[in-house]
Amino acid sequence: MNRRDYLKLSLAAGAALTFNPGALFASGASGRGPLITRAIPGKDERLPVVGLGSSATFSRVAGSEDAQALREVLSAMVEHGGTVFDTAPSYGASEQVAGAIARDLGLTDRLFWATKLNVAPRGGGAADPDAAKAQVEASFERAGKRPIDLIQVHNLGDVPVQLGLLKSLREAGRVRYIGVTTTFAPQYGQLEQVMRDEPLDFIGIDYAIDNRTMEERIFPLAQERGIGVLVYAPFGRTRLWEKVKDKALPEWAAEFDATSWGQFFLKFVASHPAVTVATPATSRVRHMVDNMGAAYGRLPDEAMRQRMIRHIESL
Ligand SMILES: NC(=O)c1ccc[n+]([C@@H]2O[C@H](COP(=O)([O-])OP(=O)(O)OC[C@H]3O[C@@H](n4cnc5c(N)ncnc54)[C@H](OP(=O)(O)O)[C@@H]3O)[C@@H](O)[C@H]2O)c1
Repeated sequence: MNRRDYLKLSLAAGAALTFNPGALFASGASGRGPLITRAIPGKDERLPVVGLGSSATFSRVAGSEDAQALREVLSAMVEHGGTVFDTAPSYGASEQVAGAIARDLGLTDRLFWATKLNVAPRGGGAADPDAAKAQVEASFERAGKRPIDLIQVHNLGDVPVQLGLLKSLREAGRVRYIGVTTTFAPQYGQLEQVMRDEPLDFIGIDYAIDNRTMEERIFPLAQERGIGVLVYAPFGRTRLWEKVKDKALPEWAAEFDATSWGQFFLKFVASHPAVTVATPATSRVRHMVDNMGAAYGRLPDEAMRQRMIRHIESL
């Protein structure tokens, strides 16, 4: 579905769609069955398996004069059943702009708002506890949501101080879930240690069809410890797009209802049983709609996952 089709459909469906997330696909517009959701481990709460990230292109647009284009991106996510929005104070204007748009569109309470905390110096070192508190308070203001659904320590910066603050906020009921993130392989050992030692609800980590180290130890540990997994960089940002440039989607992708490369990559990550939600970044409504399409229809089974890997490796 392109942007014009999407707008036509939205207009035709009118206000009902705006306040009825998932109506477009759930109403049968996709013909691909119900939205795929995953339980947050140990909780009586499910999340749609695809959401939206806000670094990369999203943050570039958020910092530009075209920021209002992101209204359509956020509305498209919600109208197609998505709820999870991943942001961070360090993603330029993303957190602030998305917070304002969500408020404006009346979407604040519909979104599962996942932000981050990090005031530790780059490369390690101590976080100033007052600066950490100030950053979290600024996030509350920008999100306009109380409690915030999820705050994670970004890139494992000063975990004792920053996760300590998040634990106290969770206890006080100001944050529902807490976690830590990294997308740097040299930090995976430390991530495992924190997963073992700390009462985490979530981790955020990179994972893609051509980047699968985390399947070996981190995903099994998440399953064992009952920790939810947010998948970052499911396209490797630009890496996978470079790989499939000018390459046709194999016909057999229809066997798991993927109609685009974006859906191929997202269905791969979403089909790992440890994964709770994938949050690809996009600044374009047509890509948002495409990505949400991965949250409908069938997911590949293990044999198909292996075939997908072999195919990508052969390109
Ligand atoms: N340590 C951390 O906490 C951490 C680190 C990395 C990422 N993250 C989170 O994870 C999110 C996702 O990771 P990422 O942004 O690095 O990379 P990504 O999601 O793998 O890739 C984003 C890129 O893919 C393009 N794209 C998205 N959907 C597309 C589609 N359907 N068709 C074609 N192109 C498409 C986007 O461009 P367009 O705008 O043109 O669509 C953008 O260039 C981040 O935004 C952030 O929220 C967290």
